[in-house]
Amino acid sequence: MAGKIPQPFIDELLSRIDIVDVINSRLSLRKAGREFTACCPFHDEKTPSFTVSQQKQFYHCFGCGVHGNALSFLMEFEHAGFVEAVEDLSSIAGLEVPREQPKPGEQAHLASNKGLYALLERAVKFYRSQLLQHAQASSAIDYLKQRGLNGEIAREFEVGYAPPGWDSVRSALKLPQRDLIDSGLLIEKEDGSSYDRFRDRVMFPIRDARGRVVGFGGRVLGDDTPKYLNSPETAVFHKGRELYGLFQARKSVRKLECLIVVEGYMDVVALAQFGVRNCVATLGTATTQAHLERMFRIVGEVVFCFDGDRAGREAAERALNNSLGVIREGWQLRFMFLPDGEDPDSLVRREGAGAFELRVKEAQSFSEFFYDVLIKQVDVESVSGRAKLVDLARPLLAQLRPGVLRQMMQDELARLAKIAPAHLGSLLGGASEVATAPRKPVEKEWQNLSLVRRALLLLLNLPSLAQKAGDGSRFRSLTLPGMPLLCEVLSLLNERPEMSPGALVEHWRDHDNWRHLVRLMSAPMVIGDAGLEDEFDGVLSCLDTMLDEQRVDELLDKEKGQMSHQEKQELSRLLLKLQSN
Ligand code: UTP
Ligand code: MN
Repeated sequence: MAGKIPQPFIDELLSRIDIVDVINSRLSLRKAGREFTACCPFHDEKTPSFTVSQQKQFYHCFGCGVHGNALSFLMEFEHAGFVEAVEDLSSIAGLEVPREQPKPGEQAHLASNKGLYALLERAVKFYRSQLLQHAQASSAIDYLKQRGLNGEIAREFEVGYAPPGWDSVRSALKLPQRDLIDSGLLIEKEDGSSYDRFRDRVMFPIRDARGRVVGFGGRVLGDDTPKYLNSPETAVFHKGRELYGLFQARKSVRKLECLIVVEGYMDVVALAQFGVRNCVATLGTATTQAHLERMFRIVGEVVFCFDGDRAGREAAERALNNSLGVIREGWQLRFMFLPDGEDPDSLVRREGAGAFELRVKEAQSFSEFFYDVLIKQVDVESVSGRAKLVDLARPLLAQLRPGVLRQMMQDELARLAKIAPAHLGSLLGGASEVATAPRKPVEKEWQNLSLVRRALLLLLNLPSLAQKAGDGSRFRSLTLPGMPLLCEVLSLLNERPEMSPGALVEHWRDHDNWRHLVRLMSAPMVIGDAGLEDEFDGVLSCLDTMLDEQRVDELLDKEKGQMSHQEKQELSRLLLKLQSN
């Protein structure tokens, strides 16, 4: 097994080749202004909406939303794997692909993911056998019975039991300790020894969409915490991508048309037991864009099922927000809320499958829920309330892909705000396809973006701006969403100031940040070239002010008497500075 391809090599590779050449040798590109365009090779179209930016080293299709750098293009266009694409590009650039030497001590590592899947498969059998045989399994069996699970459904979902010992897995599986640690089944201690991660828990194996075991969730029998323990991220387990129950749903429903997303393992199993077979659960995380894309590759309709309490509504709003950037024509996304205090498990046991499915039928549509959330925040009876509604909707609608869905959402807004659709179009500026954006709303839209987003957008348009910020490490202590990512971007650009945005994002392939960054990169830039530098200075000075304010708060939190002379001086200097801003 060859070692990993080192990241610095990939940086170098992407700096040597030009995405325009790579794509032009496969499609014929035409120059249009600063960019190049062609009819998109990834969807059917008559007029070109596929654009390639030489400066960003990045492509984007306004029609179907595909995007990426030169490596992504080869992977998509040639149906190549990542390594193949790197090798392809390297041969164009005349470079040899280096491989990292495995570190000594890592030799025993699993040679490939195949070994990892096989190991986890053996663990499924082991935990299953323990539920049926272990001397102390009776408490687990009692627990499952008390929760109402029957033997048949437990067998189908391969529910097992991790015995109480600290060394059960290794002594049973007889596999190298290193491999067991890498699989997440053992926890490594500092002295190099290890122990079972899952002890005295009911075990739910998690299979990916293709049926391979990738990890486990383990529930305590009593009220201990954590209630559920999940496998850590491993080479094959990525919590933000997997959906519990997807494999079983696909297996038991011949033609899946709709998936219901619930919150817990037990919810999926209980619903399945009652015959509602099309349910999946996220693994204790919010629904990600990766989740949505995976589900809509399989079905045309997804219904989110949330608890009716405040936490449930908040989770629903997060799911709604996460869906804005990915939702496409033909994706039916709906939202349902359960009565307060119930979860799907308790409800289906009380009401039965029929009543539950009726609730699913009555779930709110995407647009109903979208406007429900906004209307709660304003008074639609008043003119100013309706104006606020338009204001609230504008940045959200702008995140939707241009197309029929966005147009329909806009029409709905016109109806709710009691405003002529044509008039609304011009008010929405950038969010409207037909209307030409007047200057004012665009500026306002820009100001509505968070500081971190603005900083990232500016850097992705003009990476050399990073030099103004230094390596960004001083901002690390600011707790703003996205700040860790911004700091990483600044530190990378500091090391390699000539890096193109396309090469920069490559550092996050297979990571959620990839999505955040490419979304920003594909967004039209509302600030003209001449204004970029000033705008970046402005953002930096806002961030510096926030740092000062944070420091002032820190100092003020100290007891007066405990402040050193120096700190007192610092405080009055900062207060003066903040006043003069
Ligand atoms: P819930 O707390 O809603 O639990 O967590 P539940 O599924 O209803 O559990 P039961 O019915 O008490 O057994 C929902 C999901 O959040 C994740 C799990 O995936 C769980 O199914 N979770 C919850 C964790 O990962 N860890 C926890 O400690 C709790
Ligand atoms: Mn529950």
